[in-house]
Order: sequence, then C-alpha cells, then structure tokens
Amino acid sequence: MELNDKTVLLTGASGGIGAALAQELAAAGARLLLQGRDRPRLNRLLAGLPDSGRHRIIAVDLLMPGAVDGLVQAVRDAGGLDLLINNAGTSRFAWLEDQPAGDIHHQLTLNLTMPVLLTRSLLPCLRRPGLIMNIGSTFGAIGYPGYSVYCAGKAGLRGFSEALDRELAGSGVRVLYFAPRATRTTLNSPQVVELNTALGNHTDSPEWVAAQALQALQKQQQRRWLGWPERLLVRLNALFPALLDRALARQRATIAHYAGHPADKEISP
Ligand SMILES: NC(=O)c1ccc[n+]([C@@H]2O[C@H](COP(=O)([O-])OP(=O)(O)OC[C@H]3O[C@@H](n4cnc5c(N)ncnc54)[C@H](OP(=O)(O)O)[C@@H]3O)[C@@H](O)[C@H]2O)c1
Repeated sequence: MELNDKTVLLTGASGGIGAALAQELAAAGARLLLQGRDRPRLNRLLAGLPDSGRHRIIAVDLLMPGAVDGLVQAVRDAGGLDLLINNAGTSRFAWLEDQPAGDIHHQLTLNLTMPVLLTRSLLPCLRRPGLIMNIGSTFGAIGYPGYSVYCAGKAGLRGFSEALDRELAGSGVRVLYFAPRATRTTLNSPQVVELNTALGNHTDSPEWVAAQALQALQKQQQRRWLGWPERLLVRLNALFPALLDRALARQRATIAHYAGHPADKEISP
C-alpha cells in the first residue's frame, strides 16, 4: 500500500515499537491517529513527528469500558480509515502458577480480545483498499516456557489474522500478521534482558523493527517473521515440534531461574 495521505490508527503508539513505527509512517506521508495511555509521552511523540499538525493523539486505556467506541468516534471524526495497526500489547514473564488470575486476564484481553473487538468495530469505517496489521511475535508460533499466557494471546492473534484475511478475500481488505522477535523496549523486564543475554538470544532495535513493518505494509506481506534463526525455528516448530521440545528442555532450568521459579519449588511434594 502506498501510505502517502492514508489515515492510520496505530495502537500502542507511545511504546518502543509504536513510537518508531509512528516516525516511519509519518515520514511516508500518512496521517496518524496515535493511541496510547500515557498522554505526556504521546505529546512528546507528536511534537517530534514531521508535519505534527496532521496527526492526532488519543489517550485511552484499551481495557476501560468505552475504549473501542472512543476510537471508532475518532476514526469517524477523521473521515474514515485506510490502515489499522493493532500494536498495543503487554507481556509478563513468569511460570503460569506464579501469575495472578488478574494478570492473565489482562494479558489475554489486551493482546487478543481487544484487537479482535477493535477490528470488528472498525471494519465498516475501513476504506477499500484497506489494511489491518496485527503485531504478533515469534512466540505466536513457538510455545516458550515462562510465556504460556503471552504465547496463547499471540498464537490466537495469528489464527485470527489468517482466518480473517481468508474471510475477507475479495473485499479489498487484507489482514497482515507481523511477528518481531525480542526487541529492545520496556516490554521486556530486566530479567528477560538478562535471560536473553545468558542464552545468547539476538535482540533488535525498535527502529529496525519499525522499518521492517513499514516494508511489510508497503508490500502487503501477509505473514512476516523477523530474525534469524527465529524464522527457521518457526518453520521447524511447525514441522518437527519434537526438535524444539528437546532444545527448550535443555534451556528450561535457566529460563526457570530468570523467571524466578526455582527448580526445587517444582520437585517439592
Ligand atoms: N519488545 C519485544 O520484545 C516484542 C517482541 C515481539 C513482539 N512484540 C509486540 O510488539 C508490540 C509493541 O510492543 P513494544 O515492545 O513496543 O512494547 P512497549 O514499549 O511496552 O509498548 C506497549 C504499548 O502498548 C500500550 N499499552 C499497554 N497497555 C495498554 C492498555 N491497557 N491500553 C492501551 N494501551 C496500552 C502502551 O501504552 P503506554 O505507553 O501508555 O503504557 C504502549 O504504547 C506488542 O504487541 C508486543 O507484544 C514486542
């Protein structure tokens, strides 16, 4: 899609990947509706964008009642939409039994239910040709210890994206799934950063991830997995999951350590 003069709703614009993507989209000439919770951060982002007067911020907590209606109204006020990017997300790195029920609900709602509800409500406002991009994760295709809830949400988002794209075939709306690997943002706690260092996992800058997302939008790539060897591991896990079972079993004690779930806790009766 050519992005010049297109209207884009970007959720999670105040975050690491969101802010970098806002810069890319604004530089490509798009008009932005920038959602986040943190109004001062959104204001700073807006002030730093080229042609800042063309863009608008919407400070709203997506987990609050009425959030979707507020965003639909903002889109109507803008005269319609060409591109929706469901980017807002959260993650908690912890063993399932160590997570309070409220945290689990929070993650699944923000990472999966809200993109589904927002997409449903905005479909009638989306011009044809139109695009929806859902920001997933490598963990949407690889179940990883310490991330069972996050993996559930992102795998759900992947299934939603694929099914909806097939459902909308011929309608002029495409649904893209874009999956970064570990990226240097505040989404990842210090324990996750330490784990990635200990395991030698590669991490990307949000600016590089945003540039890849822009490219995926321009080329309308339906599925895009970032990073090597992650792209290979995604395919291996789909075809030969037992290989990944064995590899991750070897890492499991290290992962449990950084997740704050000592091994002795598991083996006690
Ligand atoms: N970082 C990674 O390693 C990584 C890897 C793969 C995929 N991803 C995915 O990339 C996307 C962006 O992540 P990021 O790394 O940029 O994270 P981030 O820096 O933590 O940003 C998260 C964004 O989501 C917004 N948000 C969080 N809770 C919200 C709520 N209840 N209502 C409305 N907005 C809310 C935040 O708003 P406030 O700033 O106002 O709180 C922020 O704009 C997520 O979907 C994430 O799952 C990230």
